[in-house]
Amino acid sequence: MKIGEEASAAIAGASDLAALDVVRTALLGRKAGQVTELLKILPQLPPDDRREAGAVVNALKTAVGEKLDERNAELSKAAPAAASDADLTMPGRARWLGAKHPITLVIEEIEEIFRDLGFTIAVGPEAETEWYNFTSLNFPADHPAMDMHDTLYLSEGVLLRTHTSPVQMRTMQSHKPPIRVLSPGNVYRRDFFDASHAPMFAQIEGLCVDEGISFVDLKAVLTHFANRFFGKTKTRFRPSFFPFTEPSAEMDVECVICGGSGCASCKGTGWMEILGSGMVHPRVLKAAGIDDEKYTGWAFGMGPARIAKLRYNIPDIRILYDSDVRFLEQVAR
Ligand code: DAH
Repeated sequence: MKIGEEASAAIAGASDLAALDVVRTALLGRKAGQVTELLKILPQLPPDDRREAGAVVNALKTAVGEKLDERNAELSKAAPAAASDADLTMPGRARWLGAKHPITLVIEEIEEIFRDLGFTIAVGPEAETEWYNFTSLNFPADHPAMDMHDTLYLSEGVLLRTHTSPVQMRTMQSHKPPIRVLSPGNVYRRDFFDASHAPMFAQIEGLCVDEGISFVDLKAVLTHFANRFFGKTKTRFRPSFFPFTEPSAEMDVECVICGGSGCASCKGTGWMEILGSGMVHPRVLKAAGIDDEKYTGWAFGMGPARIAKLRYNIPDIRILYDSDVRFLEQVAR
């Protein structure tokens, strides 16, 4: 009977199916189970005792077997199905992974090219003063040049910057030459959304100031940039006008769609404009407190959305702002 009580306690104490299996072997195992051993002794007993003992041991065996089965049923009900039912050969559930936006990809690629040339990244505020956005950059008050920028004013003298050029001024005020900075950021204009305009868009500004810097440096660096970004390509510089540079030039690369033969994308010219640039105007250097007799510099500004449009052959820039993942997934990497 002692074995019977111990067996009941052990069965009740088994807290999971594996533990119960161990208890079952200890009691009924064919080799050394406690109850099995008792059954093995029976043949050695005198025939009269054998019958009585046999009845008791067999009853014990049956009782233990039933208790084990009961506990097994209890534990099976409690055990989570997944633990035993999971089909490990089934393919995993696909996870939807996000990816970088094409404009971010373009900005990062441009940053890398200029970082390799020793440029560092500079940032400035999006809410800017009129002085940084216009006056210090040699926009004469009420000059028509200001009409190029449809400005969103926040309050008297404070506006949403219309370009990243004010970061040039902030950088020159806080750093002595030699200066080599790249400044990506968002800019704002009172524009309607159409195939090539948006009221908010990214720009990247570049600025290099040192002794003996000339237009040759501007051309060399920007040509190097175009060749690295677009792959070996033809470039050309066209005279242009910006109040903060003199002389000023716009840079074109051979149309990436038609390879220069002329198509709808390049309006038949074979060229695509990618940036504005020029030698920093001496008045701009002066406004920043930099000696314009000793130092010269060049600068450029470009729009990553426009570059992304060329790079990914996008007919309408609005798709860049639509957040349609079917488009974004095509470009993602
Ligand atoms: N800020 C000009 C724009 O928004 C772009 C630009 C042109 C920037 C020439 C420059 C530059 O730094 O030198 O249209």
